Amino acid sequence: MANSERDEATGMQTTGHEWDGLRELDTPLPRWWLIVFYASIVAAVIYWVLMPAWPLGNGYTRGVLNWSDRRNVAAEVQALQSARAPMFARLADASAAGIAADPELQQFAIAAGQSAFGDNCATCHGAGGGGAPGFPVLADNVWIWGGTLADIEQTIRVGIRSSHPDARLSQMPAFGRDGLLSPRQIGDATEYVISISMARARLTPDMAAAARGAAVYQEQCASCHGVEGAGDRRIGAPSLKDDLWLYGGSRAEIRRQIEQGRGGVMPSWEARFDAGTLRSLAYYVHEMGGGEPDATPTPPTPPQ
Ligand code: HEC
Ligand code: HEC
Repeated sequence: MANSERDEATGMQTTGHEWDGLRELDTPLPRWWLIVFYASIVAAVIYWVLMPAWPLGNGYTRGVLNWSDRRNVAAEVQALQSARAPMFARLADASAAGIAADPELQQFAIAAGQSAFGDNCATCHGAGGGGAPGFPVLADNVWIWGGTLADIEQTIRVGIRSSHPDARLSQMPAFGRDGLLSPRQIGDATEYVISISMARARLTPDMAAAARGAAVYQEQCASCHGVEGAGDRRIGAPSLKDDLWLYGGSRAEIRRQIEQGRGGVMPSWEARFDAGTLRSLAYYVHEMGGGEPDATPTPPTPPQ
């Protein structure tokens, strides 16, 4: 460089650049830095040759090693699936009693069910099936649609008010919104529902209103919820005798359900899972605390 010179203080060569009297030293790069720099260039070239690296028009350079993370994962998943396939096949043929009698199968069913539940169901039903307003508790022994392994599996398979052709369907009328009952009749029915439920201990029903509500109930509600309010699992009408409420258990919330007749939607899972996974999910839910024993086939009535 033409006008470079030596710096007096350090004795180093300068680059010749100068700003307001400050001159730039031409310090050489440290040797270790240069070695690392050139080594990384060499490493990068070796990497490009061996591994997938450069994008091309409709693909990428595959590299001499032909490495593919996607293929490796697919192979691992395949290996895991074939290792589990015999267990899922056994599961798909087993009843609740059959699973319970086989500790190895039971452990497998719970583990597989728990993992599928955590990924797919816990968002709505809560981890461990604790439920939330509008989403029923699955860990208790109160069932809207039935609590045998077969009932639970059917619910999971077809869903409730879902788009599945065999979905579990039912619709409580919106007695208030559609003007089927007057506000006073709805108030009376609310008091009657409270009076026949365990909520009477906390909500102290107005007994005169409840007596009027009894007539409304028998006329409008008993066909679905039963003459005594025990509910009807065939149409998913919940029991009104307990103190468990899908949409909340305050007087105002019970009344709101009679006014609005809400019905919850549970997706269908048939297209999502194979038979073994469906059975493991059903078994996991069944074992959360409230599963009912397999229905015993009714013996044929003896000839008279
Ligand atoms: C056609 C059937 C049908 C009729 C008639 C009906 N219900 Fe319902 N009711 C249901 C269904 C189904 C549900 C559950 C909705 C759901 O699962 O989301 C329900 C839910 C309820 C609930 C909420 C229960 C809970 O656990 O949270 C109350 C309270 C209730 N009904 C009261 C009544 C009263 C009072 C009447 C009469 C005035 C009535 N229902 C008439 C089908 C019916
Ligand atoms: C988008 C929210 C949602 C998801 C996800 C969901 N559910 Fe549900 N599930 C519901 C609702 C809402 C109901 C109650 C429907 C009604 O009102 O009757 C329900 C009801 C049920 C019932 C019936 C309970 C009874 O008392 O009869 C079972 C069993 C059930 N779900 C299991 C599952 C399982 C297992 C999964 C995961 C594969 C799952 N659910 C995922 C919303 C969901």
